[in-house]
Amino acid sequence: MSLFDKHKIFEKHSLLLTVGILVVVAIGGIIEIAPLFYLKNTIEKVDGMRPYTPLELAGRNIYIREGCYVCHSQMVRPLRDEVERYGHYSLAAESMYDHPFQWGSKRTGPDLARVGGKYSDAWHYDHLMDPRSVVPESIMPPYAFLADNRLHFDAIADDMKALKLIGVPYSDDMIENAKLDIQAQANPDFFPENVDYDYALTDRYEAIAGREGTVKVRAFDGDATDLTEMDALIAYMQMLGTLVDFSTYEADDLQNRR
Ligand code: HEC
Repeated sequence: MSLFDKHKIFEKHSLLLTVGILVVVAIGGIIEIAPLFYLKNTIEKVDGMRPYTPLELAGRNIYIREGCYVCHSQMVRPLRDEVERYGHYSLAAESMYDHPFQWGSKRTGPDLARVGGKYSDAWHYDHLMDPRSVVPESIMPPYAFLADNRLHFDAIADDMKALKLIGVPYSDDMIENAKLDIQAQANPDFFPENVDYDYALTDRYEAIAGREGTVKVRAFDGDATDLTEMDALIAYMQMLGTLVDFSTYEADDLQNRR
């Protein structure tokens, strides 16, 4: 029986052939997957990561609702042209509190993973009201209605509770104060009367970050009297990619996995 004759056994028995294919494909799968079991962690250890504040989380919900991800990715790939254009490539740790993550693969517009701090709040406001007022050749649709929509945040504490269930480190203190924190972040003069509110918004979140200055408190749409969806979306845009301080981050840390 020559080698080719033996092969006929497989070719004549479809079930045997199927089992054979499964075995061969499984070998490739095991070679790819097995090394991951030997890494202590596939998420690098970095300083600065913290969960979203309620206002940023509300902005993220609007980002998802409006389908911004259809045109924008949030992942700078470790390729030279990307790093030169957008900044440091994205780390796994930077999206560890994102459920669902917004990496995306479609870029009709630019990547937004590091857009935080790139423009002023006023630029974002003008751009969302009418993209062509600041970028004449833009094909992005306008989102002016966000400035008229009051932000509904009755469910924000529930959102945070759900995220906590799947591992986002929201404390009871954060969840209890969520509805007040969301108003306080968009209005520096927010001191509610007759409410027991400990104005510790920044401390609450920056304690987890281990770094100061990551929670921005201001009227994001330029108007502190009214809390709109515009405030929330700009707050979210302005913190994207700003949590990890890359002036102190060394890629060598990749070796010191937890
Ligand atoms: C139909 C595709 C499309 C959709 C949907 C879209 N954008 Fe854009 N976006 C673009 C394009 C194209 C540009 C580049 C031109 C410009 O700056 O307007 C852009 C640019 C931007 C920029 C500036 C990025 C930079 O680094 O210059 C921001 C911020 C932005 N979009 C936010 C958003 C947000 C928030 C949403 C959802 C509310 C959204 N986009 C929805 C296409 C889109």
